[in-house]
Amino acid sequence: MLFPVTRLRRLRRTPALRNMLQEVKVSVNDLIYPMFVIEGENVKNPVSSMPGVYQYSLDNLLFEVEKVVNKGIPAIILFGIPGCKDSVGSGAYAQDGIIQKSVLEIKKSFPRLVVITDVCLCEYTDHGHCGLIKDNDVDNDSTLELLAKTAVTHAQAGADIVAPSDMMDGRVAAIRKALDNAHLYDTLIMSYSAKYASSFYGPFRDAAGSAPQFGDRKTYQMDPCSGVKQAILETKLDIEEGADLVIVKPALAYMDIIKAVHDQFLCPVVSYNVSGEYSMIKAAAEKGWINEKSVVLELMAGLKRAGSQMIITYHAPQIADWLKEV
Ligand code: PBG
Repeated sequence: MLFPVTRLRRLRRTPALRNMLQEVKVSVNDLIYPMFVIEGENVKNPVSSMPGVYQYSLDNLLFEVEKVVNKGIPAIILFGIPGCKDSVGSGAYAQDGIIQKSVLEIKKSFPRLVVITDVCLCEYTDHGHCGLIKDNDVDNDSTLELLAKTAVTHAQAGADIVAPSDMMDGRVAAIRKALDNAHLYDTLIMSYSAKYASSFYGPFRDAAGSAPQFGDRKTYQMDPCSGVKQAILETKLDIEEGADLVIVKPALAYMDIIKAVHDQFLCPVVSYNVSGEYSMIKAAAEKGWINEKSVVLELMAGLKRAGSQMIITYHAPQIADWLKEV
C-alpha cells in the first residue's frame, strides 16, 4: 500500500507509540567495564588521552570496583600494568602478578561480580609485543605455553572468564587444555576472535603502557581491509577450539563483522567499543560539538542491533547512570 494510504509517520506520533515499537533495548546487563590496575599504593594516574579513565593501584581500584558494582554493572575486564617488564613477560603469569593479586582481592570483596581478565603479554614484555620474539617477529607456538600459563594463574586467582587478546593461532585450544588439566572446567574463555590491527587502540596503549617498541602488530592482528570471510574463519576456529564467547574488536568500524558473526554462529558475540572510539566521543563532547549521552546511547543501540550480546565499553559507568535517567 502506498502513500497516502500508508503513512509511516503515524507509528511515530507519540512518545508512548515510539516506546512500544522499540525493538533495541540497551540494558546495564549488556555492559562490561575495562579497568587498569597498576603496581603501587594510593596511585590514581589519569590517562590523558582517555578522560575519566585512570590507572589505579589495587587499594584504590577496590573503591572504584565498589562504585561499578553499585551501579549494577555485572562485569569488569581487567588489564594489568606490572612493576617491571622483561623480554618474556614473566609478570603476566607470576603467581603474585598484578592481575593475580587483584582478582583475588576483588573476588573476596565482590564475589558476585563477573571478573574477566585480558590474557596477553604486551603489557608485560619490554618490547611491547603480545608474545615471544624470534627473528624480529612474534613466535606463535612458543607463545602459546605462556598464554596458557597466564590464563591458568588468572583462573586460579578466581577469574570467571579469561579473554585472550593476542591473536596467536591455536591459543584457545591451548588455554582450554591447560584450564582443564588444572581442573578449572568452569572457567569461561571469551576469545578476541576477530581482532583487527586497528589505529583505534592508540589511547589504550597510553593507558596500559603497551605500545610495541618496534614494528607493529600486523603479522598477528587482522588486516582492517580483510574481508568478512576471514573474520568468520577466525571465529569458527576459536569456537571449535573451545571459546564460550567471541569478541569482535573494534566495534564501530566493524558492525558488519558483528552482524555476520552473530548471524553465522550460535555462540554469543561481544563487541569491544575500544579506546579510540571512546576518546573521539569524549573530545567532541568536550568541545560541545555533540551530546555525549545521546550519541553514546545511539551507538550502543547500533551495537545491539548488529547482534552484540554484550558490549565492552569505557562508557559503562556513565551509561549505567544515563539508563536510570531515561
Ligand atoms: C592487548 C589489548 C589491546 C586492547 C585490548 N587488549 C591492545 C592492542 O592489541 O594493542 C585494546 C583495547 C582498546 O583500545 O580499548 N593485546
